Parts: sequence; structure tokens; C-alpha cells
Amino acid sequence: MDNYKKFKAMLVEEDDGNFNIKIDEKTINDLPSGDVLIRVKYSSLNYKDALSATGNKGVTRKYPHTPGIDAAGVVEESSVNDFIIGDEVIVTGFDLGMNTSGGFGEYIRVPKEWIVKLPKGLSLKESMIFGTAGFTAALALEKLEGNGLKKSEGEVLVTGATGGVGSLAVTILSKAGYNVAAATGKIDKENFLKSIGAKKILKREDADNSSSKALLKTKWDAVIDTVGGNILATSIKSTKYNGSVATCGLTQSPILNSTVYPFILRGVNLLGIDSAHCEMDLRFKIWNKLSAEWKPDNLNLIYQECSLEELKSKVDLILNGKITGRIVVIH
Ligand SMILES: NC(=O)c1ccc[n+]([C@@H]2O[C@H](COP(=O)([O-])OP(=O)(O)OC[C@H]3O[C@@H](n4cnc5c(N)ncnc54)[C@H](OP(=O)(O)O)[C@@H]3O)[C@@H](O)[C@H]2O)c1
Repeated sequence: MDNYKKFKAMLVEEDDGNFNIKIDEKTINDLPSGDVLIRVKYSSLNYKDALSATGNKGVTRKYPHTPGIDAAGVVEESSVNDFIIGDEVIVTGFDLGMNTSGGFGEYIRVPKEWIVKLPKGLSLKESMIFGTAGFTAALALEKLEGNGLKKSEGEVLVTGATGGVGSLAVTILSKAGYNVAAATGKIDKENFLKSIGAKKILKREDADNSSSKALLKTKWDAVIDTVGGNILATSIKSTKYNGSVATCGLTQSPILNSTVYPFILRGVNLLGIDSAHCEMDLRFKIWNKLSAEWKPDNLNLIYQECSLEELKSKVDLILNGKITGRIVVIH
């Protein structure tokens, strides 16, 4: 590979505390060292990418920077035996797009430990319709089942249901045979949520109880929460005996105000979900399930395509909770 070969990438630059997004040319030489050079064919937009693209130093310390925590593409150069030229691969999480040049560029170079071979049953594009969001939703379901969730007449609640993690949680749970209740602030998206498998729709306020009671009437076998804050607290207070709540996100708030009563009187489990550093064995298991028994039939309903040039306009939308489903970036 010619190290001076140019490629297109999003570049976020810092200028006196302001952050500007532009599409620019980089060279292979600009990429960090690593075992495998990948020609990125698809990426996707996640909430964390929008934080990186707008200067959140908790996500990205140094600028100029190319965000993109997800990438799917083809190996172009490899210094290790595990991967050969032409392999189709997925990279999600680890440091990709945080302080390592990410999937919003046509090339990435990463350590072999970050790479998963594309499982049979998934295309590169489908892997990015899932991306970190779908991987996180599936990891949450895996942990819920590992903690006793079983199919029943009961319901599993998904909060932030029209978002990336939320919409994929709805459709994966439905594919896996669960009755899904979807809580959303976008009540006009009821038909969308039903089309992807939700049996019941709740207004966001109905999942956000402001009473000071330590326990509420039990409703849910389990919860996949993508928003945190009082909605997470309400979920914990409303989960049935021995049920579990998987906490994935913080779009409402990172603060959790809860007593211990749901845990010590109802045996409720609070399960932390971290997709970024998920160990490889579990990572393979989750991607394999997403390519087979948990692969929804209606993935095409969940995403919009977008070019690198169009991506900038989506950043503010996702930060303001305005995106429905997933944005897949085509390179
Ligand atoms: N733990 C992990 O490994 C992991 C992985 C991926 C993402 N995350 C986190 O999960 C969260 C969701 O990520 P995402 O990529 O799915 O983002 P997203 O597409 O923007 O979805 C977030 C959804 O949350 C709801 N929402 C937005 N603002 C809200 C508010 N103020 N109060 C209540 N609900 C609100 C909206 O859904 P409705 O309009 O339908 O209510 C929105 O679509 C983020 O905090 C992200 O950082 C964590």
C-alpha cells in the first residue's frame, strides 16, 4: 500500500474551544500503527460519535480527529496470520473513533484484537445496521437471559425505543419471542414501533414516574434501558420479583436516584452493559446470534443511508434525540 494514498474522512477540528466538522483528505500515513489496514465500506452513527464530533473530551481528548466507533470493511493489508487480504471484517468499540481514527474515514488501521470476522449470514451493510447499537441491545438480552429472563406472558420494557439501541432492542427481543413494551417520546412513531415488533407503546412520561415511593406496582419481566435518569429509576421500581434491568445509556441523565428496596425486597438485578470492551468470546457469540436466531426479518425498516457529506447534519439530530432507528454511512 502506498502510504501517501489519499482517502476521504470526516475531520473534527478544534479552534479556540469551538469544534468544526469538515470532510477532508487524509493519507494512510496519518493513521495510527496497527496490525490490519481495513478499507471501510460502511460505518454507522451512534450517540457517542456525535459527542466526539462536538468536542466532548470525555470521549475524545485530542483534535483534529476522525470519529466513528463502528466500521465494516475489507482487509487491505495485514501483518498477522489471523487476517488476510480480502477478509470481510467488523470493528466496533474499543478505542475506535474515540482517540483512534474511526469509521468516518475510508480507511482504519487497528490492532488484531479489535477485529471480528464477518459471520456467515450477515452482509457488511447489515453488520452496520446493527453496529454498536445492535450489538449493545443483543448484549443486554444475553445478560438478561443469563440472569433468568424467560419467554412468558409478561412484557419486557425498552426505553428510548425509537433510538438506535432502543429500536434494535425492540426488534431483537421481538425476534427472540418476547412481548415488547416500547416507551418513547415520539408518540407519532407508534406505527414504526409496531412494525418492528412492539406489542405495546407507552408515552415517555408513563415510564417516568415522579413519586417518591421506593416501590411501584410491578409491570415488567425485564427492562432494557437506554436513557438512564428517572426513567431508569422508575424501571427498577416497576420490575417484577427477581427480574432484571439492563442499563445501557444516559440520554436522559447519568444520575440514578434509587433506594435499595427493589433490590433487597424484590431481588431485582441491575445489569451493567458495556459494549466497548466486551471480551472476544462473548463478542463472537453475540455477532453469531445477530447473524442467525436473533437476526430480525425487518432490518430494512430500521435504517437510513447517508454519505459522509450528509453525516454532519445528523450529528445535532442524534444529540437532540431526533433520530428514529439507525443511520448507516456508505463510503
Ligand atoms: N453501554 C454501551 O455499551 C452503549 C452502547 C451504545 C450506546 N450507549 C448509550 O445508549 C444511549 C442511546 O444511544 P443511541 O446511539 O441509541 O442514541 P439515540 O439513537 O439518540 O437514541 C436515544 C433515544 O433516547 C430517547 N431520548 C432522547 N433524549 C431523551 C431524554 N431527554 N429523556 C428520555 N429519553 C430520551 C429518544 O428515544 P424516544 O424518542 O423513542 O424516547 C432517543 O431516540 C446513549 O446514552 C449511548 O451513549 C451505550
